[in-house]
Formats: sequence, structure tokens, C-alpha cells
Amino acid sequence: MRALLTRVEQDSRLDRVGDRLQRVVLGTLRPRRLRDLLHGVTLGHPLHPAMVQVPVGAWISAAVLDLMPGQRRAATVLVGLGTVSALPAAVAGLNDWAALSRDQRRVGLVHAAANSVGVTLYAGSLAARLSGRHGVGRTLGWLGLSAASLGAYIGGHLAYKQGAQVNQSVSELHRISEGWHSLVEMGALPQRTLVTREVDDVSVILYRHGDEVTVMLERCAHQSGPLGEGEVQEIGGHACVVCPWHGSAFRLNGGEVVQGPSGNDQQILPTRIQDGVLQTRLP
Ligand code: FES
Repeated sequence: MRALLTRVEQDSRLDRVGDRLQRVVLGTLRPRRLRDLLHGVTLGHPLHPAMVQVPVGAWISAAVLDLMPGQRRAATVLVGLGTVSALPAAVAGLNDWAALSRDQRRVGLVHAAANSVGVTLYAGSLAARLSGRHGVGRTLGWLGLSAASLGAYIGGHLAYKQGAQVNQSVSELHRISEGWHSLVEMGALPQRTLVTREVDDVSVILYRHGDEVTVMLERCAHQSGPLGEGEVQEIGGHACVVCPWHGSAFRLNGGEVVQGPSGNDQQILPTRIQDGVLQTRLP
């Protein structure tokens, strides 16, 4: 299975379908605020993994009830709940998928295909149960659960092996040693300008506004884009750094994501001024 998924990651034949679907998703899911909502920007966490809990939980519960006598009605309700709730979860997933890198999109396409088969089988299961054919409904339910489980396995590969929609920058903290690190003389730090420095060998950006200074990891939480090469823009009344790669924006006075495709906040580091020198340390 691992070897198969590695081949999928490298299979450029999937790009024709993937590129076309990406254009459709980006052209359909508008305005940007809708896309941000689906990315989980308002939560500060990706929304899709949370949304899939409902169909997965409902379908597994229905499968258990299918093994028990006298539970047809409850199982039918759960199959219906799972099937209906899978649709918004799929839309949120497609929205995240459209902002992934090419190798991630290839695997994401197979993940979506397996889940689409699962949803179709569950829709058939629901129809069979509602028309009184509970034996057929149970069989289609088991097949649907198998397809959805395969989709979940592939989704796990996408998230945990390929790092899709996980915070790409926060692991940098593990390379920063304990204690305070000197960065720059305050007198040499310009106002309202992004400055890049290193803490150990980890790149951080500094932004000074009056006597307040923000120190933030430089690698973007979305796909490791260089925030030090980004622009500072006023968004919602706050100074934000906008990533030059895909446009995610993070508040410079807190690191909160205010614009996707990142669904994660950007890590801020604590600061202090010691003898006129700006210092930082691990949170
Ligand atoms: S790397 Fe994608 S928005 Fe920063």
C-alpha cells in the first residue's frame, strides 16, 4: 500500500484531471471569505478533519447497529445523517485540496475518489433501507464503510506523510535551543518593515511598530513559503504579513491567520529588550 501511494504521488497522469478540477473548485468556491471559512481560518485550525467526524461516526455507529436486532430504524437514521453530512465535509476537503502542492493533489484525488465511492454506496444503502430492502441496505453500508475506510487511510497518508494542511512551520521550534537569544540592537531596527534574522539556524521575521516588536517564525504555516519576502498589509484594522506564495495572511500582533489557504496560525516568539538589544526565546 505504501509503495502504491508513493507511485500515486509521482504519477503525473493524474494532473490532467487534477488541474481541471482545481480550476473548477477555485472558480466555484467564491468569494474568498467562503474559502477562508472552509479552510478553518476563523477557528485557527483546518475545518475538514473536524467535519469528517460526523459522517465517520454516524456510519460506524450504523454498522454496529446493523449487527444488532431491532435497530433498523436507528441505523437508517444514522446512514442518512452520515450521507448528508459527508457533502459539506467534502466541499471543505476540496477547498483545502485545491491549495495543495502537485504531489499532494495527486494523492488527494485518489482520497476523494475513494470517499466518493463510499458516499455513493451509502446513498444507495439509504435508498434501499427507505424502500424496505434492509438486507441490501446493510450490504451496501458495509461496502460503503470499506470504501470510506480506504479513503481515510489515504487521507492519513496525505496529512501525516505528506504534511497536507498541517502546520509546516511549528516543528522549527524544536531546532531552537532554550534560553534568550539576542537578535538586533533596537536602535538598528526600522519601523514597520519586515526584517529577517536567525535564531540558531531558524529563520524568524521581526516587525517593529513603535516600541512593540513581533518575532514570528518565517516559514509559512501553510507550505513553508518565505514570509520575510511577503508584504505587510492592513487587514481588518491590523497589520498583517501576507505570504508571497499563496496569499495566507497572519496578524503581526498575534500570529492569528486572517486569510487562507492556511488554516493554522503562525507561531510568535516571546520578546524582551535587554541593554537595548532585542532578544527572543522559545514560547
Ligand atoms: S506557503 Fe502557501 S500561503 Fe504561505
